Amino acid sequence: MDLNLRKKNVLITGSTQGIGRRIANLFAKEGANVAICSRSPESVNKAVSEISLIGDGKIIGSSCDIKNKEDYVSWINDMANELGGVDIFIPNVSAGGGTGSEKNWWENFEIDILGTVRGVEAVVPLMEQGQGGSIVMISTTAAIETFVAPQSYNAMKAALITYAKQLSQAHGDKGIRINSVSPGPIYFDGGAWDKIKTSNEIFYEQTEKTHALGRLGTPEEVANAVVFLSSSVSSWITGVNLVVDGGYTKRVQF
Ligand SMILES: NC(=O)c1ccc[n+]([C@@H]2O[C@H](COP(=O)([O-])OP(=O)(O)OC[C@H]3O[C@@H](n4cnc5c(N)ncnc54)[C@H](OP(=O)(O)O)[C@@H]3O)[C@@H](O)[C@H]2O)c1
Repeated sequence: MDLNLRKKNVLITGSTQGIGRRIANLFAKEGANVAICSRSPESVNKAVSEISLIGDGKIIGSSCDIKNKEDYVSWINDMANELGGVDIFIPNVSAGGGTGSEKNWWENFEIDILGTVRGVEAVVPLMEQGQGGSIVMISTTAAIETFVAPQSYNAMKAALITYAKQLSQAHGDKGIRINSVSPGPIYFDGGAWDKIKTSNEIFYEQTEKTHALGRLGTPEEVANAVVFLSSSVSSWITGVNLVVDGGYTKRVQF
């Protein structure tokens, strides 16, 4: 299936490792032009060099902290100028989980919510100048079923799903589609579930068994869903939350 992504301009935040990096790799493989960022200039330079070897699109990036509005909006505008526009935007950065303090609530609000809102407000006018576009937000199954403990991560990620749905109604007439992807637990070396495997083996094994498919997901499996939803192959899909979890959650999704 041709995803029609050749020469499309794609901006992905938090894309030097983990899920964001696999999304960048896959867009590059499909021939897209890709812009990446993280807080570390060394990691960005290394990732740009490695991703450049994957496809024949233009791969660029620079360091940027999503928490800093000015820095972040400049990153979006600089990348868009260098690529010649924005067709696809993936706000992927999260402050992650954590319980017990207001700090978690502020950080999830600043990074997960405002990091997405500021990004959307910067890219929508750029997409309008082009031929529309596609935005895919990265939520989590922790937003749609109870998970571990009451925490800001779960609640803020839930807010993103509602925000994406409302945006899809507001911007459909401009040819802009907005969807969410909610991954379940995803294992990769150095990732959160690698750390849990070492620190709490019993919880890790219980989590594996909870999956209908009997294992945790891979970041590549999440990237496949994100890239599909970003591409014109999914042209009639907007406002959905696609759960990518190997049967980890148990609700019936009507
Ligand atoms: N892993 C899972 O099991 C899982 C499950 C469900 C949903 N998710 C969601 O998937 C997304 C990616 O998760 P992940 O596990 O792949 O994350 P990760 O491995 O921690 O990678 C995060 C990336 O974002 C960058 N980053 C972090 N904070 C940043 C900031 N303030 N500004 C700019 N860049 C920043 C990191 O690089 P630097 O540290 O160098 O900045 C890195 O490139 C998140 O939205 C997460 O909530 C993950």
